[in-house]
Amino acid sequence: MQVVEDVGELRDAVLSRRADVVGLVPTMGALHEGHLSLVERARRECGFVVASIFVNPTQFGAGEDYDQYPRPLEADRAACRDAGVDLVFEPTAELLYPADFKTYVEVEGLSGVLEGIHRPTHFRGVTTVVAKLLNLVQPDKAFFGRKDYQQLMLIRRMVRDLDMPVEIVGCPTVREEDGLAMSSRNAYLSKEERTTALALSRELHTVRDLLVSGAHDVSTERRLFAERLAATPGVELDYATICDPESLEELDRPQSRMVALVAARVGSTRLIDNVLVELDAPN
Ligand code: PAF
Repeated sequence: MQVVEDVGELRDAVLSRRADVVGLVPTMGALHEGHLSLVERARRECGFVVASIFVNPTQFGAGEDYDQYPRPLEADRAACRDAGVDLVFEPTAELLYPADFKTYVEVEGLSGVLEGIHRPTHFRGVTTVVAKLLNLVQPDKAFFGRKDYQQLMLIRRMVRDLDMPVEIVGCPTVREEDGLAMSSRNAYLSKEERTTALALSRELHTVRDLLVSGAHDVSTERRLFAERLAATPGVELDYATICDPESLEELDRPQSRMVALVAARVGSTRLIDNVLVELDAPN
């Protein structure tokens, strides 16, 4: 496995494997099984797998956890090696954002709802860095988890709107046995907070079961879903809602595909999670 920091070296390495399908798994490190499932999928579909590890400063707002974000670089490299990554790209912030950096990519509309309300500059940072990584690696396919559902939708829209020649592959959320969605930020949770955090996946699955079993007043289900979470001790709710899976507009009536999404703070840790609700699909 090659580890490169330099853009020239990255380009040469990818060029030498251009005959293969090239896959990119962008990450901010602190790798867990969710990330490794993306690498596994990339391995199945690509002949050359690049993983990037970069804690992207532009997607953190003022007062968020950029400095605190875990950076276990040696363990991450070992995990990539064991998972069969061919090349790890570890750029520095100075390389991706020189002092006179002035160009950002923004997906209007979609970036201003849900997470965008609570983290107003977040998605501009995400789409900018993902555009840069796609330009640097020029992969045939790039792999993202559905855990960051709104992020995945924004990246798909950016790729479509800007005619980027890459296939975006969305991969299922990986959960702990008790339902907690895997996230690098779970490492911040105390034992007690981790137990409290289970309310998020529990309520998401409850609302999915209600919708699948025929609840037709989606606006009421939406309200009750949010009320149940807001009333959970230790959970400080940002939003809990049911949306159209493409436009992310809130729904009042059921439709064949919906997504229930939640964001909340447990202690000082902000967590997000979602489940897709497919009325025609077997659950
Ligand atoms: O999902 C993440 O870890 C990040 O938002 C991403 C896509 C690697 C961009 O920094």
